[in-house]
Amino acid sequence: MSNSKPDAKRDSSGMQAMTRAIAAILVLLVLTGLVFWVYPDNFYPWAKAIHVIAVIAWMAGMLYLPRLFVYHCAAPVGSPQSETFKVMERRLLRAIINPAMIVTWVFGLWLAWKGFAFQGGWLHAKIALVLAMSAVHGYLSAAVRRFAEDRNEKPARHWRIVNEVPTLLMIAIVILVVVKPF
Ligand code: HEM
Repeated sequence: MSNSKPDAKRDSSGMQAMTRAIAAILVLLVLTGLVFWVYPDNFYPWAKAIHVIAVIAWMAGMLYLPRLFVYHCAAPVGSPQSETFKVMERRLLRAIINPAMIVTWVFGLWLAWKGFAFQGGWLHAKIALVLAMSAVHGYLSAAVRRFAEDRNEKPARHWRIVNEVPTLLMIAIVILVVVKPF
């Protein structure tokens, strides 16, 4: 049920969100370079702070997106509500979730190298769980595309269950990195 006009509108709003996300990453890189220049010997805690800020943004999006899918399931195909959900989902993914994941990975890997030389059972377990989180991210991105094309076939109950997966992974990841139990 699509014609070229809504498609063009969708593409331009998606492009805008992506352009803003790229601009935000560039600004962050410049600020990070500045902090590194001013505090070359004390950069680790700054990198950890940026990592945690990015984690919060990534998790906020990963917890909100499946919730949007639950409500989207109740909106009839072609209705104004359904079209609004599509815009919200696309912008959330492109402007928040994707860039936040990139920043989390870049700074997480740097911390793991600089602080721990990639050693430690807790770190290996954490990276494995973050890979699982990234796989959920990929699954949700594919779902955004399916909803945008009115091809979602999963019921609201499915998205309610999917909503719990990032929550459980996040709890395990935070315990591993803070407690470092092994
Ligand atoms: C992308 C892969 C990731 C890697 C390689 C990574 C690695 C690390 C490392 C090495 C630290 C520093 C630990 C320390 O100095 O004691 C750290 C801090 C932290 N990470 Fe990650 N991380 C990743 C993703 C995540 C994710 C997805 C979450 C949460 C869902 C997370 C939550 C945290 C928290 C809360 C801290 C601060 C811990 C503290 O200061 O006690 N990280 N991360």
